[in-house]
Amino acid sequence: LSRMQTNYIGKKVRFYDEVDSTNLVAKKIAEEEESDGLLVVSESQTKGKGRRGREWSSDKGCDIFMSLILKPKINPMNASMLTILAALAVSKSIAKIVEKDTYIKWPNDIILNNKKVCGVLTEMSTEIDYINHVVIGIGINVNRTSFPNELASMATSLYVETEQKVQRAELIASVVKEFEEMYLVFLEIQTLQPFMKEYNDTLINAKRQVKIIEYGKEYEAIAIGINEKGELMIHDIDHPDHVRTVLAGEVSVRGI
Ligand code: BTN
Repeated sequence: LSRMQTNYIGKKVRFYDEVDSTNLVAKKIAEEEESDGLLVVSESQTKGKGRRGREWSSDKGCDIFMSLILKPKINPMNASMLTILAALAVSKSIAKIVEKDTYIKWPNDIILNNKKVCGVLTEMSTEIDYINHVVIGIGINVNRTSFPNELASMATSLYVETEQKVQRAELIASVVKEFEEMYLVFLEIQTLQPFMKEYNDTLINAKRQVKIIEYGKEYEAIAIGINEKGELMIHDIDHPDHVRTVLAGEVSVRGI
């Protein structure tokens, strides 16, 4: 990763051949070392973690498994906004490198040709009024050529969509650079205001009917876009004036 052009994020990188999960490794390092900005990268994972306790599958030597350690001096309530920035950084980087339009599924799945190509899992350790550390785990399906049956209808890789191998080091370097640029601004202002438009412009949920599963309740709404806190704004199907925000919960877009 000599291509790294950042000053702070990813200045230090730890490489592994195989780990259980780069997020677990990163959390351990974060607890033990001065490691703000440190990047953990592995060739494979034996216990890759997805959101909501799901598994994240690994194809050794083909894909990207990376976790970024951050120790931002920001209000813990604002930490989830970092996930939005990470998704935007990956989305922009993929779009640039494969020269195709990428979309974001709120809050942080990257979609290429209607299938998921990347997921982000942010985990943090906070006290009431400060953050110990945030670990942003990013999994990108890069050069793998196929998927197990149960994933094939919803997951894809850059190779499957473009039939071209992508240099993983180049993609990692780009993600880190795009992220750093936004992160440094974000640390000062702690709002997503400057990034909202770009995020919402490629939001796959926007203007679509979405199914919201929130605290076990299920309902349909129309998605509008994120606000400056990264919450998804939705309006009722029959009452466009009735706008609300979704905080936790899962939003599913039909067909994706
Ligand atoms: C999702 O469910 O969409 C999130 C998937 C996140 C996977 C990445 S791979 C690198 C890092 N280490 C993990 O165990 N998970 C994340």
